[in-house]
Amino acid sequence: MKGVILAGGLGTRLYPLTKITNKHLLPVYDKPMIYYPLETLIKAGIEDIMIVTGGNYAGDFLRLLGNGKEFGLKHLNYTYQEGEGGIAHALSLAEYFADGEPICVILGDNIIEKNIIKAVRNFEKQKVGAKILLKEVPDPERFGVAEIENGKIVRIVEKPKKPKSNLAVIGIYMYDSKVFDIIRTLKPSERGELEITDVNNAYIKEGTMTYEMLEGWWTDAGTFESLLRANILVSQTGANND
Ligand code: G1P
Repeated sequence: MKGVILAGGLGTRLYPLTKITNKHLLPVYDKPMIYYPLETLIKAGIEDIMIVTGGNYAGDFLRLLGNGKEFGLKHLNYTYQEGEGGIAHALSLAEYFADGEPICVILGDNIIEKNIIKAVRNFEKQKVGAKILLKEVPDPERFGVAEIENGKIVRIVEKPKKPKSNLAVIGIYMYDSKVFDIIRTLKPSERGELEITDVNNAYIKEGTMTYEMLEGWWTDAGTFESLLRANILVSQTGANND
């Protein structure tokens, strides 16, 4: 399985912190934010990784990470997203890199406490379709929210005003190679972006979406509150623990 880290966007919710740098280069406790999703993939046994970035400071990723030697990697791949097309648009840029193989996608501002290797192995056995990870949260209206009926996921609603559950869809997604055909069918949402939730709902409709509950804490770090929370959680327990 190959890995894709989505680290584009302008990070406007963190302005002015993001005025002169990319969100994913900001510090989270003792490391730049991008280190955490990179470690998440590597600890799950994924070493062929592409970083999709964008904006004005894309070159700084190269200066920071190079070919990933510090992480024990032989090579890192990079690509550049023009403009603000959304998560699914950023992912579409990884099609040539994926080259028909399944992929594990992680949002560059998502940080987790524990290793996801079990879910990755389960998806390798699944062979077709997709897998997402869910986490109970106190503020589901901030996320994609999953609705489960009789143990099956029936729908995901992006940032619902009245969430039907407290199960957030975290920013780690596993897809077969069909994901790129699905993205080609999408239309921009109200916020003008190609939504990853629409990709996931396409797999649900097809009946090939599975899910697992995430163990340990999860946080994003794209707002002042969640960035602070990420710093505190990492300082208390560390991230990506076995
Ligand atoms: C994105 C997704 C959302 C998901 C979240 C996880 O939201 O659209 O479904 O729950 O990431 O971090 P965004 O941070 O782009 O608002």
